[in-house]
Amino acid sequence: MKQILNGIGILFALFFVFMVLLVSVVSAANKPKGNKEQVLPGKGERPRKALIIYQPGLTKITSRRAQELAAGLNAGGYEVTLNHPGKHLTTDLSGYELVIFGSPTYAGQLTKALTNYMAQVCPGLAKATGETPRIVLFATGGLEQTEEFDRLAELLTGLNVVKMVKFSPKGPNAYDLGLELAQE
Ligand SMILES: Cc1cc2nc3c(=O)[nH]c(=O)nc-3n(C[C@H](O)[C@H](O)[C@H](O)COP(=O)(O)O)c2cc1C
Repeated sequence: MKQILNGIGILFALFFVFMVLLVSVVSAANKPKGNKEQVLPGKGERPRKALIIYQPGLTKITSRRAQELAAGLNAGGYEVTLNHPGKHLTTDLSGYELVIFGSPTYAGQLTKALTNYMAQVCPGLAKATGETPRIVLFATGGLEQTEEFDRLAELLTGLNVVKMVKFSPKGPNAYDLGLELAQE
């Protein structure tokens, strides 16, 4: 009986440690990372413009995928602006032909830093008349499930979403997707 109780105690302790780690990881990932604007000049006098807003995670996978997408788009002629979500960002997305949102997935969710920014800009885009940007959403994560996208269904209603893609940490490079998007 004592051994069973000890076993249950150990399980609870492990679960507690796991939950504390999970909460710490999620809250660290959600912290704003500041204004890190980067612009890759496009080709020609009036290049098409793409905006990539991504929240970097705790390791480098999401940043890497964002840079690869940018490089692919840029090779296809686009002027590409990259930045992190936050108060410093404009909410005026007119002028961009393509807007890409990206985030790591932690505990089945995209980071709040990104989804808060999306909540600021998506309703305006959905209501806008005339030409609105193509929207791409990307996540990085180790699991195949894409429940993180399902949670955003309401926010994305009425937008011209052309792709929702999840990159695995060891999966393919995002450069080809960037190039493909530039050719559409
Ligand atoms: C605490 C924790 C929770 C995670 N939860 C998920 C998850 O729910 N779904 C998933 O696909 N990946 C999950 N992952 C894997 C990360 O999303 C994946 O490693 C991601 O590419 C990390 O991006 P980063 O390198 O930009 O931080 C989790 C990783 C950690 C450390």
